Amino acid sequence: KKQAMIRNFSIIAHIDHGKSTLADRILDSTGAIQEREKQEQFLDKMELERERGITIKLQSVRLPYRAKDGQEYILNLIDTPGHVDFAYEVSRSLQACEGALLVVDAAQGVEAQTLANVYLAMENDLEILPVINKIDLPSAEPERVKQEIEDVVGLDASDAVLASAKSGIGIDEILEQVVEMVPPPDGDPDAPLRALIFDSLYDSYKGVIVYMRVVDGTVKKGMKIRMMATDTTFEVTEVGAYTPHPVILDELSVGEVGFIVASIKNVRDTRVGDTITDALNPAKEPLPGYRKVNPMVFCGVYPVDSSDYEDLREALEKLELNDASLSYEAETSTALGFGFRCGFLGLLHMEIIQERIEREFNIPIITTAPSVIYKIFQTDGTVIEIENPTLMPETQKIDHVEEPYVKASIMVPNDFVGTVMELCQNKRGNYVDMKYLDENRVNIVYELPLAEIVYDFFDQLKSSTKGYASFDYELIGYQTSHLVKMDILLNGESVDALSFIVHRDRAYHRGRILVEKLKKLIPRQMFEVPIQAAIGHKIVARETISAIRKNVLAKCYGGDISRKRKLLEKQKEGKKRMKSVGNVEVPQEAFMAVLQID
Ligand code: GTP
Repeated sequence: KKQAMIRNFSIIAHIDHGKSTLADRILDSTGAIQEREKQEQFLDKMELERERGITIKLQSVRLPYRAKDGQEYILNLIDTPGHVDFAYEVSRSLQACEGALLVVDAAQGVEAQTLANVYLAMENDLEILPVINKIDLPSAEPERVKQEIEDVVGLDASDAVLASAKSGIGIDEILEQVVEMVPPPDGDPDAPLRALIFDSLYDSYKGVIVYMRVVDGTVKKGMKIRMMATDTTFEVTEVGAYTPHPVILDELSVGEVGFIVASIKNVRDTRVGDTITDALNPAKEPLPGYRKVNPMVFCGVYPVDSSDYEDLREALEKLELNDASLSYEAETSTALGFGFRCGFLGLLHMEIIQERIEREFNIPIITTAPSVIYKIFQTDGTVIEIENPTLMPETQKIDHVEEPYVKASIMVPNDFVGTVMELCQNKRGNYVDMKYLDENRVNIVYELPLAEIVYDFFDQLKSSTKGYASFDYELIGYQTSHLVKMDILLNGESVDALSFIVHRDRAYHRGRILVEKLKKLIPRQMFEVPIQAAIGHKIVARETISAIRKNVLAKCYGGDISRKRKLLEKQKEGKKRMKSVGNVEVPQEAFMAVLQID
């Protein structure tokens, strides 16, 4: 029976512990990739991902594997993203599996983010197979890491495979364990179709390609299907799987993983976590766990050149096709003109989208500082939620303000406990708990305002712990905070795109540092430009950018021609990311300056 020969699994690993390398090895050893088409790290498709060394889009690969028992198995390896911003996508891809390899670097040990994903896997009742990777490293301590997996994760690590993805050690052993220990999928082949969407991808020829795992029943070409959460129907035009090349199949039945194409024009109709059913013979209940992911971080995205507005809208539309967790809506700024308010899962997600707009769509953009959603309780008894600081009502209309808080777990070596606590304290954190995981590692738990995390918390954490800290957070709800809106005035005009919300106690400090920063970032103009920070009508800080003196220009335009060209090019370069605000030229960096003022 086919179902008994299927094994669906994924790989859980902390960034850099070797997930992609191992996946490649597995593809190699099952003969999935021919030598000539081999491309380093096949699963990480996008160029951007490779550069950043992270996995964003989920992919699944179907691999035929002849096991030592002489039987031919179908292994479906489902890739998961590795970053804290993409926890929901990870949870859906894990739900599509019966097992997971837990890859731990033999020199680094277990990291906080790995733990979060292991817990997700446990919640989904997956069989977790520990793999200790990089045993070829001189600093490898496989026995210590095994012990750590038992102590920290609570898994039996006595059978953990000692592997080196780089040198190809332990790969067969891993595949044998997958066949032996990961249970085959158990769905009902005769029940109405239920398939779990764990990813989708927009293709300009075929429309949306939906990656899914069949849980019950069968899906085939010509079938009318319905997405249960979005309640939309389509006719299946193609069914297939990646090997890793796409191959067309007659059908996908119970337990199988693959893709369908159904003339779907919009990825919003194919939400990750939604259930596909047979429109004519629908399932009674959708698969559990569907949740519409809500963006947590927002920022304004504006074209540098306002004639790019329509292109930018199209770019966002296309990106949204591939990314259901991205949201956007039109907004207008007095300073920046027509643009969009975009919502993201987190800062990394935001950076990725910004880069893709510029690289894939070639649209220079200006982004404003990220904000979270604040709840404003007004004196008239109404509550509004704002994701743009400029929408904050006047002080006298506000009763109190609440902001989102997260529970953050930070795992660090002993030596950095003091540093991390100081950082969290600085970020308005409330200490919750601290646990020693072994004699040299500590898990520190703090409640922190999401807004502080959104600013450069992660970077500061990394730099203050020499990169040793690992970090994970979850939203825990809203708490009252004494927050005020800080406005920035250039040349006497309030620039809405520079406004931000800040805790009362830090307002003066941040205001002062920010105007100093802006003074450095905004180039000198032909006239003097005062920069002011204000809370309500009260100016809390002021700096002045002095005017360009004529002889400075004269100097530039004299001299040799190559120098002049270089200067012009530099100016052109600079122009791309400048925006005229009133009559002041403001560079992109100025809009993000608020992120780096602690
Ligand atoms: P993300 O895609 O960012 O999640 O990282 P990853 O977990 O996929 O890690 P990746 O496979 O990219 O490996 C990270 C680094 O570790 C690369 O430089 C690999 O060459 C290296 N690496 C992976 N496996 C091994 C191994 O077994 N031994 C050694 N020495 N290095 C390894």
